[in-house]
Amino acid sequence: MYHHEIPAMRLSLLLLLLFLVAPAAAQLVAPPVVVPPGVAGGAQVPPPTKLSPDFYSQSCPRAERIIAEVVQAKQMANPTTAAGVLRVFFHDCFVSGCDASVLIASNQFAKSEQDAEINHSLPGDAFDAVVRSKLALELECPGVVSCADILSLASRVLVTMTGGPRYPVPLGRKDSLSSSPTAPDVELPHSNYTVDHLISMFGAKGFTVQELVALSGAHTLGFSHCQEFATRLYNFRDKGGKPEDFDPTMNPSYAKGLQVVCKDYLKDPTIAAFNDIITPGKFDNMYFVNLERGLGLLSTDEELWTDPRTKPLVQLYASNSTAFFDDFGRAMEKLSLYGVKTGADGEIRRRCDTYNNGPVPK
Ligand code: HEM
Repeated sequence: MYHHEIPAMRLSLLLLLLFLVAPAAAQLVAPPVVVPPGVAGGAQVPPPTKLSPDFYSQSCPRAERIIAEVVQAKQMANPTTAAGVLRVFFHDCFVSGCDASVLIASNQFAKSEQDAEINHSLPGDAFDAVVRSKLALELECPGVVSCADILSLASRVLVTMTGGPRYPVPLGRKDSLSSSPTAPDVELPHSNYTVDHLISMFGAKGFTVQELVALSGAHTLGFSHCQEFATRLYNFRDKGGKPEDFDPTMNPSYAKGLQVVCKDYLKDPTIAAFNDIITPGKFDNMYFVNLERGLGLLSTDEELWTDPRTKPLVQLYASNSTAFFDDFGRAMEKLSLYGVKTGADGEIRRRCDTYNNGPVPK
């Protein structure tokens, strides 16, 4: 498992990179855009069936407050927590629904989602935030609040705490009784996917193009390891096979800065760069402004700007932070309801990393 510790030298390289790019980028102003009718306008959130925001109002009235206190303290101590929790939440929900299946630890009897290659880079601080919340809740109201609800609420708390929108989180999810080590690599998007692939993957799960773009705005926070974007920096060839110094869709100063930051990534796979180089710790719409300036880090980010189906939405969110926050909030609420388990389909785990009946899944 990687850790998001950034040694001082690496941080200064990142800052140098920020100074290289920021002045040029700041001069560019996002142009106003007209969005074609039907492209934007709000995701439809299905009405929650058995879930409701006041699900714990009788059984554990302070649940939300307790989670907020724990994860806010964790974020203050480890500012990488917010991005980590948000990514863990996405990786949980897209694989068999928002059911805390990603939290199950692997053991000698059974592998879990955590063994999937794509999940190896999920940061320990994110899991720790959930474990700490669960411990505090078990002291207050044992056996009541599910790990899936903790992850959903913790994500919302951290999005809001870092500057993003506050959106409703219906509660009452049960925790899964299984966790597949193979599903995540199939069900989750990879950094080398095309927009076609992203649209069909999100579409297959009931998410629109607009929701894909809005949710991608989560890359306003956090890091990516160099191996996720190295093909854009070294030995790059265009579609005709012509060698280039780097992916020409990138801002040249940015690409050259990243080439320096990542030069030893094969020896040290923990080297990472900010997803949003301008305001890395703030949840804002800078991710979209960056895409317009060639400052997208992953090729999947950049392609949202190039592709005519997604470009108008990038332009909208770059120029209108309220539209982004509204659509992101609605899409997150919808994501939080994806594939949830209720009744006998799940359980309330006592520990988030283990099923109640022991280490072997049912
Ligand atoms: C659209 C397709 C997506 C792709 C291809 C993608 C891919 C990636 C990759 C490769 C990383 C870097 C991981 C690492 O090196 O540690 C990453 C980071 C991240 N992703 Fe995504 N992602 C996508 C959508 C999403 C969505 C929908 C969310 C949340 C709603 C999300 C939240 C995050 C966050 C917050 C990080 C930073 C994690 C950290 O700093 O620990 N991503 N993503």
